[in-house]
Formats: sequence, C-alpha cells, structure tokens
Amino acid sequence: MADLVTDVLRRHAEDAFADELAALAAQDDRPRPERWRLSPWAVATYLLGGELPDGTVITPKYIGPRRVVEVAVTTLATDRALLLLGVPGTAKTWVSEHLAAAISGDSTLLVQGTAGTPEEAVRYGWNYARLLTAGPSREALVPSPLMRAMADGRIARVEELTRIPADVQDSLITILSEKTLPVPELGTEVQAVRGFNLIATANDRDRGVNELSSALRRRFNTVVLPLPGSLEEEVEIVTRRVEQLGRSLRLPELPRLPGGAEEIRRVVTVFRELRAGLTTDGRTKVKTPSGTLSTAEAISVVTNGMALAAHFGDGVLRAGDIAAGVIGAVVRDPAADQQVWREYVEGVVRERDGWKDFYRAARENAR
Ligand SMILES: Nc1ncnc2c1ncn2[C@@H]1O[C@H](COP(=O)(O)OP(=O)(O)O)[C@@H](O)[C@H]1O
Ligand SMILES: [Mg+2]
Repeated sequence: MADLVTDVLRRHAEDAFADELAALAAQDDRPRPERWRLSPWAVATYLLGGELPDGTVITPKYIGPRRVVEVAVTTLATDRALLLLGVPGTAKTWVSEHLAAAISGDSTLLVQGTAGTPEEAVRYGWNYARLLTAGPSREALVPSPLMRAMADGRIARVEELTRIPADVQDSLITILSEKTLPVPELGTEVQAVRGFNLIATANDRDRGVNELSSALRRRFNTVVLPLPGSLEEEVEIVTRRVEQLGRSLRLPELPRLPGGAEEIRRVVTVFRELRAGLTTDGRTKVKTPSGTLSTAEAISVVTNGMALAAHFGDGVLRAGDIAAGVIGAVVRDPAADQQVWREYVEGVVRERDGWKDFYRAARENAR
C-alpha cells in the first residue's frame, strides 16, 4: 500500500509535504480559525518557508512577496472568497493547492473551470440509477466538491473561474453571499459550516472571455500574483522546482548534473529578455514573441533538458540540451515568432560573452 502511495505520479500537496504540515501543527501555538489545521501565521510560513523553534526546516513553496501570501491567507479567514489573478505560470494553481492543503488538509475539493463546466459541477447532480429506484433522496444526490467543502467546513477550489459560462458562475453568488446551497428537489439546503471558503484562480489573459459579473466580483478579494521581480528570483524559483521535479521523476539530482545552474540562468535570461523586449543590460531592444514564456515553461524546458542530459548525454546539462526546448517555447507561431527568434539569436546571443555554445546549439536546432 505504502508503495502505491509514493508511486503515484504526482502527490497532492498534503501528502507530499505531510511531514512539514505535521511539524507546523505541532509547534503552532497561535489562534486558529475554526476548523483550520493551522494558524494563519503557520499557513504563511508553510507557503513562504522558514525554520521552526525545534529546527525543522519548512521549504518555501511560493517565492514572491510575503505580503501577497499574508493577504491571501487573511482573506480566507474572513467571509470573502479569494481570487488569485495573474498571467499564466505565476503559480496561481500551485498557491491555491498549497493554501487548501495547509488550511484544510485537503486540496482535492476542486472544480475545473472550462467553457463546458455544467451547473452540476458547482452545485450537485444526481445518480440516475438511484434516482430511478429510490426517487429524489439524499442517497441519490451527488454533491459537488463545493457542496462537500461547505458541509465539512473546508476550502474549495475553482480553477479558471472566468472560463465558466456566466449562468453557471452565477450559482456561486448564493453560495458566497448566503453561504447556503438550496436543494429544492428535497426541500432542503446545505449550509456552509465555519471553515468553508473558496479559492478561485483566473488568468489575466482570459479577461473578457467571461468577465466576472460585478455581483460575483464583490464576493472576492482579488490578489494578483506578480511575475518574478528579478532575474535572481526567477532563477531561484526554477532551480527549486527543477530539483523537486527531478526527484519525483527520479532523474539524477542537480549537483550531479554540473552545468545546471548555468543553464538555468541562461534559460531565465532568454525568457526575461524576450518577455521584456529588452536585454538585461538595458542596451538592446528585442522583439517579443507571441507565447507567454512563463516561469512554468522555463521549469519544463530545464527539466526536459535534464532528462536529455541524463539519458542521452554524459550527465552534464549543456546548451545543446536546452536549446530545442527554448526554441519550442519561443516559436509558437511559425511565421512571426521564427523571425523574432532569428533576430534575437543573431543580434544578442551571437555577441554575448560565454554564449558561443548556446549560439551554436540554437543554430543547429533552428527549424
Ligand atoms: N513565484 C513562484 N514560486 C514558486 N513556484 C512558482 C512561482 N512561479 C511559478 N512557479 C511554478 O510554476 C509552475 C506552474 O504554476 P501554475 O500554478 O500552474 O501557474 P498558473 O496557475 O498561474 O498558470 C508550478 O510548478 C510552480 O511551482
Ligand atoms: Mg493555473
């Protein structure tokens, strides 16, 4: 059994970090809101990292402004829900999962928002076999993750809220304002128990797809997750996540993959320069490609590079292992982005000290 649990491809935050959460709970003597596993302070420490009085090290999950996390955690202890907003790859989903894990010990009460999300996914549905044999009854009712979170006083999550059709979004209004979910078929309701709250995520880029109604928006405190402020910060995020992912993919660890730090820095530099339209030294303007070039994509470029180096190279992560990934992330639109990339390679990469190997790899991989 134990093996099955550690062999799942991706563990939920509450399992993967069970030790840290237990240590925090044991040493946390601050007041906890009802049904919270931890105090707001301990939740923030779980997200941002720190060291406990007994020396237990809490690894940082989110790297970014402390205040952002503090406001997010505090919101969840009030009667307003939390909306995490930001461009793709700014860790909205990641932060939402860890908040739910730390507060409720359960990050799985999740509704995935899409254009096709039906009302049943937000409210409740019916088990038709039971409905036919037993008629409308508690036993025939299939609660949504939200309904379960309300009944148990836990945190529910809604991913990509703005992709959900407006009429389905509207069913959230009663839940968030009245804290109840009526079930007219049974002449009853499910009232939210203390500890219930909701974390929704939405992409900045989706704005206008299904703009939130003002009635719904009023129920949320919005917290914007920023892009990493500096090169150093982004390098740290990528390094940490690549180490963690490498472990769970059973790849050789970074220290045994010399060259890792240098290549991570290179990928992040390229991404930041193309995103900003300007080189790091502020001297050369470059064109911006159509893709987002998010931190999340940088993480996957490096992880793939590590797999290449481990399985087909000599174990050293080199420019040649990351070049194809970088090009894949940059060149999304074959016509326009290709030109942007070529100009960047010839105008910036070629001239840069110590980047000869990357220049060569970029040319070899050119499509
Ligand atoms: N500031 C950050 N701190 C920690 N990890 C980050 C940060 N920004 C991005 N990541 C990583 O990027 C990956 C993707 O983030 P995700 O939550 O899916 O983004 P979003 O939902 O905003 O599109 C996650 O693995 C996360 O660890
Ligand atoms: Mg997301």
